[in-house]
Amino acid sequence: MKKQRLVVTAGPTREHLDPVRFLSNPSTGKMGFAIAKAAVEAGYEVVLVAGPVALKTPKDVKRVDVVSAREMEKAVTDAAGDILIATAAVADWRPAHCSMRKLKKGEMGGTLALVRNPDILKGSTIPLKIGFAAETGDPVAEALRKCREKKLAFCVANDVTQKDAGFGVSTNRVIFVKPDGSCTKLPKLSKLSVARRIIAEIGK
Ligand code: C5P
Repeated sequence: MKKQRLVVTAGPTREHLDPVRFLSNPSTGKMGFAIAKAAVEAGYEVVLVAGPVALKTPKDVKRVDVVSAREMEKAVTDAAGDILIATAAVADWRPAHCSMRKLKKGEMGGTLALVRNPDILKGSTIPLKIGFAAETGDPVAEALRKCREKKLAFCVANDVTQKDAGFGVSTNRVIFVKPDGSCTKLPKLSKLSVARRIIAEIGK
């Protein structure tokens, strides 16, 4: 039987102002890389679309490196997957202009004009989509909103204000939220264990 292709986005994106300056965020890509590993274990063909991160590619995973949100969007479209799991912390905005050469301090002015980046998860036509909601407010309410707005099978909510969950650390505390409002709260787990639970949930 032909394997299902599962596409994972991971890490941050960088939105350059010039060759040496960019807007970004502290995502390390750990959650997405753990999902790629768990998906291979479960028998999927895996394409990992990674922003700039310092992690080793899991065995048997096809990795596509990208820098900006627009590059990530193209790589996801090109991957033509059956399932999309979007863990990437995509920059919502990019500078309206990117200079090909380093800008001088005096050329930069005090205001930075920004334009919106595409919402990769929302725009994707991949049939089965799973998103993440990293929140500092009410993670379940936000996850439910994202489920409905981005047409997700489910959304993985986490409160990034907790020290042992979210950006950079090896553990996570998450809640699976479905579009009908039903929730499954998992205990504190390693990111690999969370990844295996997400893959098992897709299998259902
Ligand atoms: O709307 P928000 O950015 O909070 O949604 C988070 C979810 O959407 C994550 O799964 C993230 O990977 C995805 N996303 C995306 N493209 C964006 C913004 C978010 O794929 N431009």
